[in-house]
Amino acid sequence: MKKDVRKAVIAGNWKMNKTPAEATAFIEELKPLVADASCDVVICVPFVDLQNALDATKGSNIKVGAENCHWATNGAFTGEVAAPMLAEMGVEYVVIGHSERRAYFGETDETVQMRTRAAIDNGLKVILCVGEVLEQREQGITEEVVGLQTKVALGGVSKEELKNIIIAYEPVWAIGTGKTATPEQAEEVNHYIRTVIAKLYDDEAAEAITIQYGGSMNAKNAEELVGKVDVDGGLIGGASLKSADFATIVAAASK
Ligand code: 13P
Repeated sequence: MKKDVRKAVIAGNWKMNKTPAEATAFIEELKPLVADASCDVVICVPFVDLQNALDATKGSNIKVGAENCHWATNGAFTGEVAAPMLAEMGVEYVVIGHSERRAYFGETDETVQMRTRAAIDNGLKVILCVGEVLEQREQGITEEVVGLQTKVALGGVSKEELKNIIIAYEPVWAIGTGKTATPEQAEEVNHYIRTVIAKLYDDEAAEAITIQYGGSMNAKNAEELVGKVDVDGGLIGGASLKSADFATIVAAASK
């Protein structure tokens, strides 16, 4: 982390976990544990948990995000949720382009770009996920894959709008596998993403953007990962479901 120039952000991604009542109970538990954090703390929760999360986090330093949003303002898209709906509720963040959306729900770089546009247009902050699968890493094309995902997603995003975007580098082989990228691997790709941003925008934009790491980040390995200069926090799945573990990660990023 380079806290003097950019924000460290620890975000939980609950995925398809916790009912609304469980969300409220969890947040009540978490609030005192992260009250003194010097990094930003975000929890991204299932749509049906959002209202409870917003109510329970009111007056605290925990911010609330959704896990996806549609690109259209409204319309015949059964089962989808539009960005203006989230914005009106008071939701601040939205995860876009998660590898599980890409793998199981037909998300492409193009739909990631469209959803990003909708989120930005509605004043939401985007946590934009990029990352290679194992075969791509083994083929030595991680930079090409992550570079392309980043470039397409940010197509049409201005330098001013970029201030509302966080990039989360999540190597797919590290997600939910217990196989974390080494701090060096995370640093290497996060640094590469920063060079992509410098080319797309300029050095100032590249230095300012928050780039997280995600993939089996936990209470034990968080400190070493966020100790790297280009790793500005994390997007945490499994370990964000346990308040003590999540709070330990927040504390590691608050040092
Ligand atoms: P895990 O922390 O469970 O590996 O998940 C990471 C992730 O996908 C966060 O978005």
